[in-house]
Amino acid sequence: MRAIDISIIGATGAVGAELIKLLESSQLPVSRLRLLASRTSVGRRLRFRDEICIVEPLDEIDDTQADIAFFSAGRAVSAKYGPLFAAQGALVIDNSNAFRMNPDVPLLVPQINPNALAARPRSGIVENPNCSAIQLVRALRPLVTAFHVHQIILTTYQAASGGGLKGIDELLEGSRAALAGRAPPRAKHFPFPLAFNVIPQVGEITSEGVTLEERKRLQESRKLLGLPHLRLTSSCVRVPVVNGHPEAVYLELEESVHVVQVRELLTLEPDFRLSVGGPHVGYPTPRHLTDPAIVHVARVKVNPENPYCLWIVADNLKVRRLTHLSS
Ligand code: A2P
Repeated sequence: MRAIDISIIGATGAVGAELIKLLESSQLPVSRLRLLASRTSVGRRLRFRDEICIVEPLDEIDDTQADIAFFSAGRAVSAKYGPLFAAQGALVIDNSNAFRMNPDVPLLVPQINPNALAARPRSGIVENPNCSAIQLVRALRPLVTAFHVHQIILTTYQAASGGGLKGIDELLEGSRAALAGRAPPRAKHFPFPLAFNVIPQVGEITSEGVTLEERKRLQESRKLLGLPHLRLTSSCVRVPVVNGHPEAVYLELEESVHVVQVRELLTLEPDFRLSVGGPHVGYPTPRHLTDPAIVHVARVKVNPENPYCLWIVADNLKVRRLTHLSS
């Protein structure tokens, strides 16, 4: 395999750092790794394999050439620079939602729709879905394929890391302040201080009362599962957890199915662990993920009236980065 020239845009962020670690531990031959960020990080030195890479300011670079450019610096940066890298021949793998609903941009979860990348997209851009959508569709796919789903209702319990390093820092600072008996610092990244709190809002609230995060969950699930009429309602909640997004999912099926059948289908999924039983051994929590690279499912249960419930947890930073790399 020929060595690949890679740029990471947003290399100093939470996602960028995970991406560098994953690249380091992969066998991928890398001819050049270019680390790009905002001007505030210029000159930072980051280790990659046996080399030290100096972070460069994105807005000062002259050439945007690369074989692959990973973007994780927010929507505005992707929208401005993604097409510039793609125009110079890079395959852009974007983490923001800048192009997710563009029909020329595949939305890819390798375990779900690998054929979406059978040919290089004309746009030169591939989108990585929202992290909580990745784990959700990976758990839903076998069920929506086998059964007729009337509707899906879910609540996500999203960790601070979904808001990047600044989100994690805000949670940790607020927690330290509360434990020391001080008032929490003013919330900048979340709508309210997150420490010892639960916030029923992830992303901006639209005029219909839905948040953008909730809207993305519906649109992305429909696109990824190829079900344009899927009925899915979600409530996204921010919780004071550093990393790891749980989701409680409730499925109403048209037919009556035995819980064993549901469990059997889930055990066949790749990179997936289904647990049956009690705490730690029997169900995953953000602090007890046995393998950060996989999606964990537990508490599969059937209510007498038919709906099926699942508890899904994944390491949102790593599961997403692996989706990135497998792209
Ligand atoms: P920097 O660290 O220099 O601000 P996170 O999601 O963890 O907050 O990380 C966001 C990433 O995106 C960081 O690497 C950040 O760089 C980068 N970033 C933010 N704004 C820009 C910008 N305008 N140009 C380039 N990189 C940016």
